[in-house]
Amino acid sequence: MLQRQPTRPTFGWDNLAGGHAAGLPAVDDLPHTRLLTSGRAALFAAMKALGVQAGDGVLAPSYHCPTLVAPLRAAGAALQFYPLGPDGLPALDAITPAARTRALVAAQLFGLPRSLAAVRAWCDARGIALVEDCAHSFFGQAGERPVGHWGDLATASLSKFFPVAEGGLLAAARPLPAQALQPAGARAQLKAWVDLLERGSAQGRLTGLNAPLRALFRLKNGPPRAPSPAAPGEPDEARMLAECDLGRSEQAAPALTRRLLGLPRGRIVTRRRAHYDMLHRLAQGLPGARPLSAPLPAQAAPYVMPLWLDAPEPAETAYAALRAAGCAVFRWDRVWPDVPDFPDDHGARWRTQVLQLLCHQDLDDAMLTRTCDVLTDALKT
Ligand SMILES: Cc1ncc(COP(=O)(O)O)c(C=O)c1O
Repeated sequence: MLQRQPTRPTFGWDNLAGGHAAGLPAVDDLPHTRLLTSGRAALFAAMKALGVQAGDGVLAPSYHCPTLVAPLRAAGAALQFYPLGPDGLPALDAITPAARTRALVAAQLFGLPRSLAAVRAWCDARGIALVEDCAHSFFGQAGERPVGHWGDLATASLSKFFPVAEGGLLAAARPLPAQALQPAGARAQLKAWVDLLERGSAQGRLTGLNAPLRALFRLKNGPPRAPSPAAPGEPDEARMLAECDLGRSEQAAPALTRRLLGLPRGRIVTRRRAHYDMLHRLAQGLPGARPLSAPLPAQAAPYVMPLWLDAPEPAETAYAALRAAGCAVFRWDRVWPDVPDFPDDHGARWRTQVLQLLCHQDLDDAMLTRTCDVLTDALKT
């Protein structure tokens, strides 16, 4: 059976070893933090903390994962999309905010955080709050400030950096307004442990326990089920919202999430950096493709190595081949309904011309090599 590469960190004994310090700033260095169940939940909480009311305007990037947009809509925001410049930052000159615009959400993409000095100044001049979405960038220095320190609020997605079943973080330099959260409950607490053991053993990361745990989970789950096919047609907003599963946005995270946040961080940063470097090097030899960004900056713990494809990708080529081969890769081609076509929007190009090759700590060299082999074959044809 096809062994899928993990698209997020999985717990293994090696998580317990290595240096505790990340050696880089992190979003949870901010003095005020609230642990939630996901990055989505953190964005929803950010809207609530800013007092966004139904119909208030919120600026969101044209290049996005639907889970960035859904929580803004769920909070009642009237969305106004903005185009991106070549650096992935808001193309500020192209934005005329509507009346009642309360916030701009800017994503620190790919785990390669950037200075938001110009965005901060633009927001300040207009009395608009800045939400720094650090889902891709839990660690790093973003120009003159540590990541997360540009926004009035910062949000993070913990499952992209830590082996947690679920976790998100809302963080700020100033005290956060109170938010009523339902307690996680016994079922969610237990599920967090089951998920940790199930994913860890499935990936062979729990030496000594892998075989018995796998047998146990096979008994529990029965034969593997084929994924259900996507519903036909262009998704409308209601379907996008439903697919983003915001159900647990107002629940506290399970206790295990907090414990796993305390794991040694040195390995996370070192291995991500090494994986990025390897993908960056291998990508130099790919036909019709090249790394989107320069070699890794010194103060970053990347989420993905973004790969630029010279030709826009129709649905059935390299990306499809990578997915079919079980490689850890994403493409943000699912766009929220009614995003306008902006002239010269890099975000729009990136939807079909950027592949996000994951480089998290629990991938290994053989997996990355395979990804580049599959890509080489697909791009040659
Ligand atoms: C930029 C960005 N923001 C927010 C999210 C939502 O994070 P989560 O999956 O933890 O809800 C994602 C998820 O992919 C993301 O890429």
